[in-house]
Amino acid sequence: MIDKAIQEQINYYKARANEYDEWFYRIGRYDYGVEINQRWFAEVEIIRNALREQDKCQSILELACGTGIWTQELIEIGEQITCIDASEEMIQINQQKLNGNDKNINIEYQQLDVFSWQPQAQYDLIFFAFWLSHVPPIMVNEFLQKVRRSVKPQGKLFIIDSLFSQTSHAKNHHSRNERDINQKRKLNNGQTFEVFKIYYQQDSLKDKLIQAGFQNIDVKTTDNYFIYSSVEG
Ligand SMILES: C[S@@+](CC[C@H](N)C(=O)[O-])C[C@H]1O[C@@H](n2cnc3c(N)ncnc32)[C@H](O)[C@@H]1O
Repeated sequence: MIDKAIQEQINYYKARANEYDEWFYRIGRYDYGVEINQRWFAEVEIIRNALREQDKCQSILELACGTGIWTQELIEIGEQITCIDASEEMIQINQQKLNGNDKNINIEYQQLDVFSWQPQAQYDLIFFAFWLSHVPPIMVNEFLQKVRRSVKPQGKLFIIDSLFSQTSHAKNHHSRNERDINQKRKLNNGQTFEVFKIYYQQDSLKDKLIQAGFQNIDVKTTDNYFIYSSVEG
């Protein structure tokens, strides 16, 4: 049952890969007009600046890397980046964006399901954006513990995710209940899928990170759209 739901989520992102960036750059169904879009981009800038404040390091692991929106930032921080995603379509777009990056950073891509991922190494920084909210609640503790074991001593985890908001999702997605962990998503062609979406608050995210054994947990939010956290392993 859970395996089927995880596979549907992977299938959704495979099918959405080519239109994924429309969400982040507020294009088409995600365009809420100048004022609201500006608010979105101003809040993106806040989390981008928080990420840029991270210490430069040798190795970074990005889970659920997607099309590379954040990989583009991570090359400013780390010398070696490992990117994992279950969708080859996402990885291809990420590779196209990052290919020949002028930093000449070494990026290794691994196409695999995070839930069957067996970490082979430890990293100075583990990063994931808009991923934790898709981890089914019954799997989140195990997932975060696996992540913690993969952070080097003195290493860090940086998370970005969504706050509940009526203007972050596509206009033709129905108004949702913040507590409903299953969401129906539509592609531009009308095809529908169901995904998990869990909206963490500062306290609930902090609790999960403490349970997984992380320390010095700093969870912040922007005014409307994002929750982000930098923690020690
Ligand atoms: C909301 S997107 C986030 C992409 C990227 N982190 C970003 O912020 O732009 C979720 C990503 O998770 C990937 N994904 C979904 N299920 C996965 C799984 N079980 N294992 C690995 N990646 C998965 C999707 O292919 C997609 O790239």
